[in-house]
Amino acid sequence: EKQGFRHFMLKEIHEQPSVVRTCLEVYFNPDWQRKSTKPVNLNLSSELTDDLENIQIVACGTSWHASLVGKYLLEQIAEIPTFVQYASEYRYSPSPIMANTMTIGVTQSGETADTLAALGMERQRRSRLDKPYRPRIVGISNRPESTLGGMVDQLINTYAGIEIGVAATKTFVAQVMAFYVLALDLAWQRKTISPERIDQILAGLLQLPTQIEKILQTEEGKIEDLAHNFPETRDFVFLGRGINFPIALEGALKLKEISYIHAEGYPAGEMKHGPIALLDAHVPVVAIAMGGSVYEKVISNAQEAKARDARLIGIVPQSYDDEVFHDILNVPEVEELLSPILAVIPLQLLSYYIASLRGLDVDQPRNLAKSVTVE
Ligand code: M6R
Repeated sequence: EKQGFRHFMLKEIHEQPSVVRTCLEVYFNPDWQRKSTKPVNLNLSSELTDDLENIQIVACGTSWHASLVGKYLLEQIAEIPTFVQYASEYRYSPSPIMANTMTIGVTQSGETADTLAALGMERQRRSRLDKPYRPRIVGISNRPESTLGGMVDQLINTYAGIEIGVAATKTFVAQVMAFYVLALDLAWQRKTISPERIDQILAGLLQLPTQIEKILQTEEGKIEDLAHNFPETRDFVFLGRGINFPIALEGALKLKEISYIHAEGYPAGEMKHGPIALLDAHVPVVAIAMGGSVYEKVISNAQEAKARDARLIGIVPQSYDDEVFHDILNVPEVEELLSPILAVIPLQLLSYYIASLRGLDVDQPRNLAKSVTVE
């Protein structure tokens, strides 16, 4: 069942190129001719998209991180103001009801109690108004047959295949892909980007599966070796900015949940507002420096960490190798918008190898269940 891999998590990490390929095959229209056809086949009903003004997203854990990448895409590509909420918080302090708002629940299992409850609450509060607002409830899930599937107006299936490891890997990548699809569909409908730009993004997305394969081929051995350096490490810091800030959060969550090492993900520019006080030679810092608009800023934030003697690990595009880093994990060079799906791969591998070298039960970490059905 593990197909020769030591753990399901490692198998699932290796399945990611094919997960992205499936998403591209299912959702992207190969006959996209710029004018006559749609670029993606999402078939969202007009009830959901007509006069749409805002999107709010509720999710937990890794799905919340995917949603933060989604917010970036929906705002930057489709120009729709988007608000991402922890489902467990939203339930007890929901924002005032806004008209023409789509609510998206993101849950790979489709069974997370808080996410389902937040969606149920949202539908109810909208229908209780004197002049009810259309609820427009959408789900993004890997399990269309789940409870979530039965309670949404439309479900976007992520087609990652069943995920057994408690740490979400391929389902995260599939959720982020779903957000590219949704953002491109809405951008096309609303004409917020040109057909040429859609072409460009689609061409970039089509490269992702081979680029993930390349990371797995060239970096996995390096990452396994690197993981040997942290047998006693108790804290890690992950830094990212812009579309890769959620990837820093995701890198930290992966490490925490399977290796039991304390880890924090931070927007790199926030370091100097407090957390930098934590740094010394015992706290490695992973900086996601993927090129694009924030590259120079991330490098200068990394330099600040280095000046506090932190061991600095860079997730960096091939041609950008920067001397600031002690260790470099390379990913293929892509435009910033497409970089999170590549940046997350070395972080998944790093947490996997650190946990596995510690002899931990990577697939079934202590205190955790695959889906959290308690509130
Ligand atoms: O099934 P869901 O996507 O709703 O699960 C949400 C979280 O419980 C989940 O992502 C959790 O954080 C993972 N174990 C992270 O790897």
